[in-house]
Amino acid sequence: MSNTRNARRWQPWAMAMGVIAILALIGSQLLPNDDSAQQQGKLTYNDNCASCHGADLQGTRQGPPFLHQVYEPSHHGDEAFYRAIANGVQAHHWRFGDMPAVPNVSREQASDIIAYIREQQRAAGIK
Ligand code: HEC
Repeated sequence: MSNTRNARRWQPWAMAMGVIAILALIGSQLLPNDDSAQQQGKLTYNDNCASCHGADLQGTRQGPPFLHQVYEPSHHGDEAFYRAIANGVQAHHWRFGDMPAVPNVSREQASDIIAYIREQQRAAGIK
């Protein structure tokens, strides 16, 4: 008895939560493309680059930080990123050693990663 009454009491809440969830879903579909490229890029970056370049883009003992003047767009353009991912990098700026190619990252995924890194750089004042 009391169970059914409780269930009735919770029904409007469940409906409200459902409506909110649906609205949130619709809202997320309406985000501009650029944002979703950056979000996708962040995931791909975390899986493939963060182990060396750092989850916060500040570098690790395995690789250099991207939030660094050396990697501003005018010094390392987007093409340098595509090339690094496709071919790897011979150590030349730092003493971390060579970067191996990351062949499982497609050019499209690379473009998302670049969108993510550029956005983080802009936020850090590296333009
Ligand atoms: C195993 C470690 C490692 C991983 C994983 C790694 N990198 Fe690197 N990366 C390095 C090191 C070390 C350097 C610095 C080479 C040097 O001395 O200039 C570097 C340099 C770079 C450069 C600069 C290239 C240039 O022209 O100087 C770019 C761009 C880059 N990495 C992008 C990436 C991206 C994007 C990913 C993920 C898809 C990634 N790296 C994954 C170690 C790594």
